[in-house]
Amino acid sequence: MSRLDATSLLHTPSPPSPPSKPTTRRRLLRVISITLAVLVACLSLLLLVVRSSPTTPPNYGSLFISLASNDTAARHLRALTLHPHVAGTRANSLTAAYVRDAFSALSIPSHITPYSVLLSYPIHRSLSLAVPGRETTTSFTLSQETYPNDPYASATAEVMPTFYAYAASGSVSAEAVYANYGREEDFAYLASRGVDVAGKVAVARYGMIHCEDIVHNARVAGAAAAVVYTDPLQYGGAPGEAWFPSSRWLPPTGVQVGSLFRGVGDPTTPMWGSSEGCERMSVEEAMATDDMPGIPALPVSARDAAEIHASLGGDAAPADWQGREGSPVYRLGPGPAILNLTYTGNDTMATIENVFAVIEGAEEPDRYVILGNHRDAWTFGASDPNSGTAAMIELAERLSVLRKQGWRPRRTIIFCSWDAEEYGLTGSTEWVEENREMLSSRAVAYLNVDVSVQDPDNSSQTVYDSWVKSNISPSVRPGYPVYHSLYDDFVWMEKFGDPGFRRHAAAASIWGIMALRLADEEILPFNYKPYTSELEEYTKVVENEIRGTAVSCSPLHSAIRALKIAATKINGERKELQRQLLSNQLSKDSMKIRALNDRLMQAERAFTNREGLFKQEWFKHLVYGPSEQNDWESASFPGVGNAIASARSDNTTKSWKFVQHEIHRVARAITQASVVLTGSLT
Ligand SMILES: *[C@@H]1O[C@H](CO)[C@@H](O)[C@H](O)[C@H]1NC(C)=O
Ligand SMILES: *[C@@H]1O[C@H](CO)[C@@H](O)[C@H](O)[C@H]1NC(C)=O
Ligand SMILES: *[C@@H]1O[C@H](CO)[C@@H](O)[C@H](O)[C@H]1NC(C)=O
Ligand SMILES: *[C@@H]1O[C@H](CO)[C@@H](O)[C@H](O)[C@H]1NC(C)=O
Ligand SMILES: *[C@@H]1O[C@H](CO)[C@@H](O)[C@H](O)[C@H]1NC(C)=O
Repeated sequence: MSRLDATSLLHTPSPPSPPSKPTTRRRLLRVISITLAVLVACLSLLLLVVRSSPTTPPNYGSLFISLASNDTAARHLRALTLHPHVAGTRANSLTAAYVRDAFSALSIPSHITPYSVLLSYPIHRSLSLAVPGRETTTSFTLSQETYPNDPYASATAEVMPTFYAYAASGSVSAEAVYANYGREEDFAYLASRGVDVAGKVAVARYGMIHCEDIVHNARVAGAAAAVVYTDPLQYGGAPGEAWFPSSRWLPPTGVQVGSLFRGVGDPTTPMWGSSEGCERMSVEEAMATDDMPGIPALPVSARDAAEIHASLGGDAAPADWQGREGSPVYRLGPGPAILNLTYTGNDTMATIENVFAVIEGAEEPDRYVILGNHRDAWTFGASDPNSGTAAMIELAERLSVLRKQGWRPRRTIIFCSWDAEEYGLTGSTEWVEENREMLSSRAVAYLNVDVSVQDPDNSSQTVYDSWVKSNISPSVRPGYPVYHSLYDDFVWMEKFGDPGFRRHAAAASIWGIMALRLADEEILPFNYKPYTSELEEYTKVVENEIRGTAVSCSPLHSAIRALKIAATKINGERKELQRQLLSNQLSKDSMKIRALNDRLMQAERAFTNREGLFKQEWFKHLVYGPSEQNDWESASFPGVGNAIASARSDNTTKSWKFVQHEIHRVARAITQASVVLTGSLT
């Protein structure tokens, strides 16, 4: 066969052209981390449903649970959060050494892998408020206040001034406009009310979408600069309620910082690893891409925002744009308030450090169960992310006890402590880029924990029950008031986040038990039967959305039916192999087990697609992904959802036909998964 023929075989038939072409190729690389993360999200669902295979004595799982230590977790958290440790700083290099040494002390081989990447720090910031006809101009201090007897008061001097990473440097003096949560629909509403945002300073609040999406939407609407604040409605508790340290709520001077980069990884090496001597874009080129905010922006406190609100005129904003009960009426503007926002950033190459620790597998060392958490923090990082780091080290301490009792995992367990996550999943992305082919052939699962507080408070219900009750989605929305502020410190955690540190220990228990099962069971604990029920549920949702159109879900139905048959078949094979294992007719290292595991491992990968999601082509999983407008939310069949949204707004035959195409693509991916599970060529 000629090369050309081989290529044409691989080439997918051209699809009907989409009604509107995706405009950016941002976040292409997030796909890898997200593919892994989604894999985990799905697998964790499966894991909860699959029954444990008969355990061979000694029962290391029970021993692992019995070793839980809240004191150990608290000790590591305290040590990790003594100083603020932003990526690329000396303080964060010290936390890398701490984590490496903690693993080494447990006789788990560990090492640090550094990368040189483009980070961003503040040099100069100022924000002032003027009102024509008013004598005085207010210059905001842009500083978060400490409280009397704050044990971390001296370390506060080391906290980086409040800023947005990668914000453009510049000075803008213009009328302010209030833009609610800064979503597309908020700017559309302003346009519908005749409020022109062009050339103005958009003032938006947190609470619905990430800061990088708010500032991006502001720029698209024509704003010359943006200011984003924490409204007491979300972060301040009930009117009149106290704030930290008297309660869990964010103090009025609290500021939520963040990164405005909408891509992932090192901006100078899109799609490839930042190895020494590698090809790179210049800093100027990287800062000029669509993934960057392109306008100056600053995060501000509720107190500063209240003063801005008080100086805005124009029409009163709608009810769902208002603050909490009792606060003065918010108005849309523009003006008369004039904001002068001046920002100078230092976008500079810096060294980041990922830490790895490896427990090599005894039987299948080339199969990886990967546990990860990031280590860098905007401030002290007691919740985000070092609650997860402390839980990871506590988990490793328990495994080291198991090792002394004779345990060796079947598969290799790799612990990862990522750097520069806050800047754009940078440390993990660079590592995945460098190791892409190895990971895609060898990784069994990736279990990520960022903020690690599972709720074991109610002893009469399981953690699973409490998840179901609180209806959490696979993506964890940062739902605590001091998120990314000065106050995310050990005191807040000890008093409000996790008094007694039992939640840390519970998170480590769940994380570790999942890891033990994935690493130790001869046959991977993946059950695709419950997956098919989930797929049926998502199909029902799509059916509701397309009612009254010519679009049909029947390709999905038949693909899911086939997957069900394949899942039943492989579950039967699993049972038979388990029987043979128990009766010693089969050795633990039989190729038959390896072959079955490969099918179980590969089936999930079949849901991914090289071309990715419609409108979010950097995401490759066709079943699960983040929703287009909000990184915090997840969606099922997101490409179909995006196509339906487009068709609704276009309302043309062509755009509805495109929905049908998207349905076919998902159906084909599901069919690929059944072929893998069935294990025979068609
Ligand atoms: C805005 O503030 C900066 C920094 O304080 C100052 O240099 C600049 O002159 C101000 N611009 C206007 C138009 O007031
Ligand atoms: C920018 O950061 C680099 C690296 O940290 C530093 O060497 C340089 O002095 C900084 N530049 C300014 C203007 O602060
Ligand atoms: C604890 O869980 C039980 C069982 O689900 C439930 O009946 C009870 O209301 C819960 N208690 C609290 C305080 O939430
Ligand atoms: C750990 O739990 C025990 C028992 O509940 C408690 O006495 C102790 O104070 C906890 N440790 C920490 C650091 O909170
Ligand atoms: C969409 O188009 C169809 C036919 O062209 C029309 O009957 C229908 O009212 C339109 N729907 C909307 C929501 O505009």
